[in-house]
Amino acid sequence: MDEVDILFDREAVTRKVKELGQIINADYQGRDLLVVGILKGAFIFMADLVREIDLPLQLDFMDVSSYGDSTVSSGEVRIIKDLEYSIKDKDVLIVEDIVDTGLTLKYIKEILHRRGPGSIRICCLLDKPSRRKADIFPEYVGYSIPDRFVVGYGLDYAEQYRHYPAVCELKPSVYQK
Ligand code: IMP
Ligand code: MG
Repeated sequence: MDEVDILFDREAVTRKVKELGQIINADYQGRDLLVVGILKGAFIFMADLVREIDLPLQLDFMDVSSYGDSTVSSGEVRIIKDLEYSIKDKDVLIVEDIVDTGLTLKYIKEILHRRGPGSIRICCLLDKPSRRKADIFPEYVGYSIPDRFVVGYGLDYAEQYRHYPAVCELKPSVYQK
């Protein structure tokens, strides 16, 4: 594990996810939730988060990919896997691993808005506000972090490291090779 430094260990992440769950429980009292996970990065966070939510709840998933150069987010995304169910009049909570430029979520939000949901909010484990290019303000944020490349707890670098239990910073030497 000398390619990474631990930023938030598993215990810290577990506590944070519990906190987010409690806030979501309070905010959505008396309502049903449709939780939409953005694949693949959100899968571990979402699995833990929904188990902290004590409300009637349905799950669905969406997978998107950026057009063009994968290292530069263009904001134009292609839907690889769309939702299975209608979101009409539903309270949609989008769950994402990390918001970086915000361009991906801006696009997703626009697509979902056109389908007439009751509401749409965003819950992300990590947020890099200094990198923002789109006006996306997640309602629920686990940790705000500086501009570092992070992996683990679902997040990848070239599809590696997703299974690491902690949120780690990837040493620049790994991706600057
Ligand atoms: P955005 O459109 O720039 O906000 O892109 C967000 C997406 O970029 C996330 O869903 C991640 O898949 C990916 N991403 C951004 N920063 C990181 C990071 O530090 N580690 C891993 N993936 C990241
Ligand atoms: Mg992602």
